[in-house]
Amino acid sequence: MEKQQFDLVVFGATSFVGQILTRYLTETYGVGGTVSWAIAGRSGHKLETLKNELGERARELPILLADASRPESLDELCLQTRVIISTVGPYALYGEPLIKACVSSGTDYCDLTGEVQWIRAMIERYEDQAKASGARIVHCCGFDSIPSDLGVLFLQQQAQQTFGHYCTQVKMRVKAAKGEFSGGTVASLMNVAKEAAADPALRKELANPFSICPPGHRSSQRQPNVKSASYDKDFDAWTAPFVMAAINTRIVHRSNALMATGYGKEFLYDEAMLTGRGLKGRATAYAITAALGGFLAASAIKPTRWALERFVVPKPGEGPSPEAQQNGFYDLRFVGHTEAGESIRTRVTGDRDPGYGSTGKMLGEAGACLAFDLDPDAPGGFWTPASLLGQSLLDRLTTRAGLRFELLENN
Ligand SMILES: NC(=O)c1ccc[n+]([C@@H]2O[C@H](COP(=O)([O-])OP(=O)(O)OC[C@H]3O[C@@H](n4cnc5c(N)ncnc54)[C@H](OP(=O)(O)O)[C@@H]3O)[C@@H](O)[C@H]2O)c1
Repeated sequence: MEKQQFDLVVFGATSFVGQILTRYLTETYGVGGTVSWAIAGRSGHKLETLKNELGERARELPILLADASRPESLDELCLQTRVIISTVGPYALYGEPLIKACVSSGTDYCDLTGEVQWIRAMIERYEDQAKASGARIVHCCGFDSIPSDLGVLFLQQQAQQTFGHYCTQVKMRVKAAKGEFSGGTVASLMNVAKEAAADPALRKELANPFSICPPGHRSSQRQPNVKSASYDKDFDAWTAPFVMAAINTRIVHRSNALMATGYGKEFLYDEAMLTGRGLKGRATAYAITAALGGFLAASAIKPTRWALERFVVPKPGEGPSPEAQQNGFYDLRFVGHTEAGESIRTRVTGDRDPGYGSTGKMLGEAGACLAFDLDPDAPGGFWTPASLLGQSLLDRLTTRAGLRFELLENN
């Protein structure tokens, strides 16, 4: 096979989100056009079925076979493409062999992991090799953590233009969102809860807001963290913990560190869900806190985890219906404060359900951005969406993928 025959390969195209992504790439870029791409996975039969479902327009879509448990098949995959987009998860269980293959071959890579402990392990084990080979690795290219990471970048750009300096504190609040979890996401969440319950060192690591920042990146200030129902003066509303904050805040801090601490060494960032005003808002905030705590506790213990897997949560490969994806949306609000007392408000919205319909589009554009928009000399290493793809990805998302980044007010 000729070296780097493809711009992009979607590994795990048969996964729930991989199918959405494959459909998106087919509709947006076509097959055999300006973007040369292929689908890959371990089951030729499932890949053929997917291709057939896409109809005539995907007749020439190439299929490649590779299995995460056969490293030589991943090396072969890397030889054929400049960029790999992977949806083979939980990444903590299946992801490492592909990272290894990409960093040894210098192949650019992006994925949808939200598993902080796995990202940290990959950075520790492979960053030197990625720097040496030139492989650019970008985790968290879905709903976690692109809207948060690029949302903060956008707010800081607006702050810089308006006030001439960045905000020292930014809060993201989920104002509204409609969508469901898929089997793969729930499996990843439960896996983290299980591992954390058995490992005190991991619990400590997960509690560290700078756990995936380069060594030495520290702040003397305690990071805010909404762990229970609490009232937020900035939004005049009650808030509850937001499950994705555990990964999004880490990615935003890594972006800050990789962009030469552009937001400032003492930069504060947190995320939460808005639950409304008054008694109803308060009651909802407490109910969400209790439900989230109950789910994580049940995931950590074997008998209740078994019961959840068996009777409650979707199985791997399952997820929201096409109607639910179509009718989903999200509305994230950001407020930033500067040291001088100025403040600024922005909004990030997306069409489709956050975890799948919108995530598939964001991941596809992150892969296309890696393949076409980067300075070829951009160094290898473990990046974040904002620090490597920044404005180019923001432009792609707004022109193609249904996201909007808006300035609401500043004063
Ligand atoms: N960040 C976000 O916003 C976000 C959103 C959605 C999903 N995710 C993450 O993305 C991942 C995928 O989610 P999903 O719900 O789409 O998963 P899924 O439907 O359960 O699919 C898992 C995929 O992994 C493949 N796979 C498993 N073992 C493999 C192996 N040894 N070699 C090759 N492929 C293998 C499966 O192949 P077969 O089809 O052959 O079984 C399937 O394609 C999960 O980790 C999830 O947490 C993140």
